[in-house]
Amino acid sequence: MSVVVREAELSDAHGVARVEIDAWRDTYPTLLPSAHLVGGLDMARRTVFWRHRLSTRSALRTVVGAVNSRGPIVGYATWGPCRVDTLESGGQLFELYLLPDHQGRGLGRRLCAAVGEYFLKAGVSSMCVEVLEGNPNRFFYEAIGGRLAARARHPFAGTILPTLIYAWDNLELLVGERAR
Ligand SMILES: CC(C)(COP(=O)(O)OP(=O)(O)OC[C@H]1O[C@@H](n2cnc3c(N)ncnc32)[C@H](O)[C@@H]1OP(=O)(O)O)[C@@H](O)C(=O)NCCC(=O)NCCS
Repeated sequence: MSVVVREAELSDAHGVARVEIDAWRDTYPTLLPSAHLVGGLDMARRTVFWRHRLSTRSALRTVVGAVNSRGPIVGYATWGPCRVDTLESGGQLFELYLLPDHQGRGLGRRLCAAVGEYFLKAGVSSMCVEVLEGNPNRFFYEAIGGRLAARARHPFAGTILPTLIYAWDNLELLVGERAR
C-alpha cells in the first residue's frame, strides 16, 4: 500500500474528519475532557467544519496522506503564518494527525517535510509547532530536528493546558530529511 502526500481537496473533508476524530480519541484520553472527546467530536459536524475550511481560501492550508492518492485519508497536517508572537518563526504547523494504524511508518516525517517545502516555496524559512506538554508524541518533533524554543499555556478543547513550542530555524534541513 503506498501513501501519497498531496494538498487536500474539498472531497477530502469526510476523510480528514475521520482521521481527526480517531487520532484525538486515541491520543488525548488522559489529557482532554472526555465530554469533548465524545460529544465534541461529532462526525457530521466535523465534516461540515472541514468542508467549510477546505472550501475557503484562507492563509490556513491542509495537506493529506491518502492511500494511492485517491484512496482513504490516513493523515493530515495544517499550516499557516506563525501565531506565536514571542517567536520569530515565519510559519506554524498547526495540526498533525495520523490514524493510529498508520503511525510509526514515516508518514509524520513526510507530512512535516511537505509542509516545510510549501513554506520554502513561499519564501518562509522557519516554522514552529505547539504541542501539549503531556503528549508523549512531542518527542517526535525532537526526532525530526525541532528545538524546544518556548513554553506556553493554551486554550485547548475547553481547558487551558501547558504546551511546548518547538522550532525549526532552517527548513532546508527538515525538507532534506524527507529522503531518509
Ligand atoms: C506524532 C505523529 C504525527 C508522528 O508521525 P509518525 O508517522 O508516527 O512518525 P514517523 O514514523 O514519521 O517518525 C519519525 C521519527 O520520529 C520518531 N518518533 C515518532 N513518534 C515518536 C514518539 N512518540 N516518541 C519518540 N520518537 C518518536 C520515530 O522513531 C522516527 O525516528 P527515526 O526516523 O530516527 O527512526 C503520529 O504518531 C501521530 O499522529 N500521533 C498521534 C497524534 C499526535 O500526537 N499528533 C501531534 C499533535 S501536536
